Amino acid sequence: MTASKKLFVRTFGCQMNVYDSGRMIDVLSARGYEPTETPEDADLVILNTCHIREKAAEKVFSEIGRIRALKDEREARGQPTMIGVAGCVAQAEGEEIVRRAPVVDLVVGPQAYHRLPDLIDKAARGEKAVDTDFPPEDKFTRMPAASEKRVRSGGATAFLAVQEGCDKFCTFCVVPYTRGAEASRPAGALVEEARRLVDRGVREITLLGQNVNAYHGEGLDGREWSLARLLFELTEIEGLDRLRYTTSHPRDMDDDLIAAHRDLDRLMPYLHLPVQSGSDRMLAAMNRRHTRDTYLDIISRIREARPDIAISGDFIVGFPGETEADFEDTLDLVRRVGYAHAFSFKYSPRPGTPAAEMDGHVPEAVKTERLQRLQAVLADGQRRFNEGLVGMTLPVLFEKPGRREGQLIGRSPYLVPVHAEVPAAMMGAITEVAIESAGQNSVGGRLAVPTLHATSATLAEAPL
Ligand code: 5AD
Ligand code: SF4
Repeated sequence: MTASKKLFVRTFGCQMNVYDSGRMIDVLSARGYEPTETPEDADLVILNTCHIREKAAEKVFSEIGRIRALKDEREARGQPTMIGVAGCVAQAEGEEIVRRAPVVDLVVGPQAYHRLPDLIDKAARGEKAVDTDFPPEDKFTRMPAASEKRVRSGGATAFLAVQEGCDKFCTFCVVPYTRGAEASRPAGALVEEARRLVDRGVREITLLGQNVNAYHGEGLDGREWSLARLLFELTEIEGLDRLRYTTSHPRDMDDDLIAAHRDLDRLMPYLHLPVQSGSDRMLAAMNRRHTRDTYLDIISRIREARPDIAISGDFIVGFPGETEADFEDTLDLVRRVGYAHAFSFKYSPRPGTPAAEMDGHVPEAVKTERLQRLQAVLADGQRRFNEGLVGMTLPVLFEKPGRREGQLIGRSPYLVPVHAEVPAAMMGAITEVAIESAGQNSVGGRLAVPTLHATSATLAEAPL
């Protein structure tokens, strides 16, 4: 048997890409590849790319240039090196990537990752391997289960893709083209994958989907299940202490899902619900299929169900036709909602999307100015949210070392990072922390005396 080959995957973009990179590693581990942390010693380098904005997509070509230099060096030493491009740029540009960067050996879209071994064989024969099909078979059922070694190294939190693709066709967005039509995985496979993660030490799972709350997979009873029903089932798994889901569309925020936030303690009080704009005129032009008022109504209903919930969102400034008045409607909506956290972007025209062809493109300088004003208001809200946590005692899941010696960083239920001086052995444990200080992006605290909020398993783990 030959020595195992080394694989390096660099991930750009969203959490779905992070999840997919892991699954590609699983597929290739089954084929004798071993993951490595450094591209220098990789026989195969895969760039898992993002196409959402122009900047993200352009990064790929500069990265290919860097990897090309490595490949040249390695090959001068007699070590053949293969370069693959995966993800949404691969899907959107396909063959064009190989034309523009002939050093690339294989191009694979997100729906074809289960075919990677065949593509590698083809590339090894010296042929360019390009696969951007949307094959009829379900890639998830064709991929091996997450390898034990990889899951173990992943710590106490994990992603689980439950749904993929999008049928909403917002006029600015490439996702329906790069990820394809909305599809949900069956609940049985998801419960099984979640159980395996928990068996290997995962305490918190984030369910992923481009439109996760549109989930409508086959349930354990053979009927169609909603995301709320799936969440109820997953909370039955012993040892799975926390659940989250992302990212959601306001149209799919149904009553059952809102009720789940009231009824399920293990469903964390955090909701990422992008609105993009606070102007009805812009929402219509974006084909969001909801209004500012329907969005605000969802927010108030969810707050009724779970008063402490942290709301997060996404915003686009400078969409074609956006006036100062439209933009001020966005600022007003932001102030009304009081976001705990948010992402905001300048509109970036994407080839093939309807908005790219619209009239009234906003000058770059105006976009920049609006983005700064929006970000100032969002930063203010975030700081206020964090300051509101001071004085509370929160269960924190510690997941990585802090900057200072003796410090760990963990996740609060609201996803705000918490710094605290705690024994290193507490990594992966959930324990109560008294919050004492707040910063822009995180809060600080110290271990609290254990209270009845902690589960017995948590207390047994915590070396107090
Ligand atoms: N330009 C700018 N931002 C975009 N987003 C999606 N498409 C574009 C685009 N063309 C943002 C949206 C979305 C997030 C993932 O990225 O805010 O919610
Ligand atoms: Fe980027 Fe969207 Fe693809 Fe994620 S799904 S990698 S955000 S284009």
